[in-house]
Amino acid sequence: MDNNKVVEVLRGIEDPTSRTDIISARRITDLKLDGVNVIFTLHTTGLDDSQKAQLNFKCQEKILGIYPDAEIHIHMKAAAQGSGADTPLPQVKNIIAVASGKGGVGKSTLAANLALALAELGYKTGLLDADLYGPSMPTMFGLKGKRPKIYEHYGKPVLEPINQYGIHIMSIGFVVEPEQAVVLRGPRLSGVLKQFISDVRWPELDFMIVDLPPGTGDVQLSLVQSVPLTGAVLVTTPQEVALDDAVKAGNMFRIENINVPILGVVENMAWFTPDDMPDKKYYLFGEGGGKKLAKLFNTVLLSQIPLVQSVREAGDSGKPAVLCGDITADNYKETAKKLVRQTVIRNEMLDPTKMVNMNQ
Ligand SMILES: Nc1ncnc2c1ncn2[C@@H]1O[C@H](COP(=O)(O)OP(=O)(O)O)[C@@H](O)[C@H]1O
Ligand SMILES: [Mg+2]
Repeated sequence: MDNNKVVEVLRGIEDPTSRTDIISARRITDLKLDGVNVIFTLHTTGLDDSQKAQLNFKCQEKILGIYPDAEIHIHMKAAAQGSGADTPLPQVKNIIAVASGKGGVGKSTLAANLALALAELGYKTGLLDADLYGPSMPTMFGLKGKRPKIYEHYGKPVLEPINQYGIHIMSIGFVVEPEQAVVLRGPRLSGVLKQFISDVRWPELDFMIVDLPPGTGDVQLSLVQSVPLTGAVLVTTPQEVALDDAVKAGNMFRIENINVPILGVVENMAWFTPDDMPDKKYYLFGEGGGKKLAKLFNTVLLSQIPLVQSVREAGDSGKPAVLCGDITADNYKETAKKLVRQTVIRNEMLDPTKMVNMNQ
């Protein structure tokens, strides 16, 4: 019997919770062949009993298909709660939240353009619109009224993210009309967010960007309990008064048992630049907020993005600025490059973030 052949047939089995196979989803470890015995561990994190049974059966079936006399020993193993290996999205390498203290500072605009810039750099990228009260992504990506495909997978209904401009997107706005989203509260809300993570078939991704609502509410708390966040990016405007709220938003991630690293700060609307005078800078909202915030959190100022009319127009038109060759396109691309650098450093220096377990 041949190790590689066993891996190859197991690769033919779809993973119940992600849009990959069970080898890519890292469900199989410690594979050993010993005489007629095939021994391995099957990691069952995130699976219900019926999925576990189906997966066990499929593994046996595949191996017996090539080695009919094999004796198969499968150790089913669920990761310990909060162990770090216990992630509902093993196929997603980095999950980064875009957060701010206030609404209207440009979080969603940044999240959309950052995701597109990452894709342009060659990274497989997803965008989770977690602003359940006011989803922006259907409008920003020209997907209003679009519905994701739903189908049955291992006996459970799953949603397929919508692919637009090369990135994979999920938003509450694809599921309910925006006016209906505002009635979601508390448990319903965290249920929706959890579903967006475990009942959506996300493909293998290098980056998942999560667009949050403003502040430090239910959605933020649900998110850190639902996935291990690699880090957060804080968005602020330059004025002093915006700073207090931004600090509160950042502090939430730094609470001891949440412990999500702040990868950087983006100062949006840093100055006003008329579209036809790209070299002019008018400091309408003052200066220095971004730098101050970065210093406070001992992190870097990833970029300063000017206030430009075409950025808003691009967002409203369903084709974000990065795709329009806007004068800010380079700002967003530079932001993406710096964010990648910060992520690499973070992953080298720090252990993976653990999901927050509220029962501890
Ligand atoms: N750099 C910018 N220049 C011009 N308009 C911007 C810029 N950033 C954001 N906007 C506009 O400001 C408004 C609020 O931005 P949005 O991204 O929705 O903020 P948030 O998600 O923080 O509430 C939108 O109309 C958006 O198009
Ligand atoms: Mg928003």
